[in-house]
Amino acid sequence: MNLTNLVRPNILRLKPYSSARDEFKGKEGIFLDANENPFGELNRYPDPGQLALKQKLASIKLLSHENIFIGNGSDEAIDILFRVFCEPGRDKVVTCPPTYGMYEVSAGINDAGVISIPLINNFQLDIESIARLDRQAENVKMIFLCSPNNPTGNILKDIDAVLDIFNGIVVVDEAYIDFSDAESYIHKIADHPGLVVLQTMSKARGLAAARIGIAYANPEIIAFMNKVKPPYNVSALNQEAALNALDNQAVFQKQKQEIKEQKRYLEQELIKLKCVKHIHPSDANFLLVEVSDANFIYDELVKSQIITRNRHSVIRNCIRITIGTKSENQKLLQYFKQLNN
Ligand SMILES: Cc1ncc(COP(=O)(O)O)c(C=O)c1O
Repeated sequence: MNLTNLVRPNILRLKPYSSARDEFKGKEGIFLDANENPFGELNRYPDPGQLALKQKLASIKLLSHENIFIGNGSDEAIDILFRVFCEPGRDKVVTCPPTYGMYEVSAGINDAGVISIPLINNFQLDIESIARLDRQAENVKMIFLCSPNNPTGNILKDIDAVLDIFNGIVVVDEAYIDFSDAESYIHKIADHPGLVVLQTMSKARGLAAARIGIAYANPEIIAFMNKVKPPYNVSALNQEAALNALDNQAVFQKQKQEIKEQKRYLEQELIKLKCVKHIHPSDANFLLVEVSDANFIYDELVKSQIITRNRHSVIRNCIRITIGTKSENQKLLQYFKQLNN
């Protein structure tokens, strides 16, 4: 694959902004270069290359820091991928709905077209339709695969097949991978020059407020993403929070375990209720639950200040329920049982 055929010509030509901290990387010195206030604790700009955080992630994931891009949430990484690869008004991407809504929104913001190839057979990829795409003729640059998929919760089984047949950028969004026993695709980036794996610290790592999203890919793709990102896109506070969270492996494992146990409990209890018709198997920290009347149940739960995600508009009579704490889940069940009567 020749990446330069996929990157937008203006991004190939772009001379990126070089910040003061890009040019001088030392920590010691008298800093009179960036028009900062010399007083205070948060007076200095953060490391634009987020090197300490990347090195920590690299040592955990057994990769190089050059394989890693850090975004202000993975939503920023998604937007930057559009800005690197999709010529507005011309290029297109493939999405496989029902899936995470931001791929389409980001496409809209960046004036990229969307070819929709819906999931089939229990929310799996329609490989035949993906194989039929004429990527070059149709100016298709990227395909977005979400695994485990939001909102359905399942792992996509045929990502390898897509990597074989699609010679553009394959984005595998693994926001929920920590809740699954399936293997991440990050270790396949060396074999696939067009593969980008997205992960986030917003879910299992419990840092949604800190907005830390990560893209893993070959250094060439990462370099283009870095070229396009705003120089100081991740605050010092957020880089610090992420480093601290990564040091706390025991808490991460314990919370993950508890969420998985609570998921099993919620599943067992919900399926006993008359208004619950089906619970889709989930590899994530949420359940997609088919109920008798999603709009009614969603509204009733809101009246009790229990907020779920009504997905009726995309999957008939389904609501998506995030796994909460034990007491939150018990409250949910208590209100659900009342609705059952
Ligand atoms: C599949 C998927 N990808 C990405 C995101 C966004 O994550 P972040 O908080 O890192 O922007 C979400 C958030 O819900 C998600 O469900």
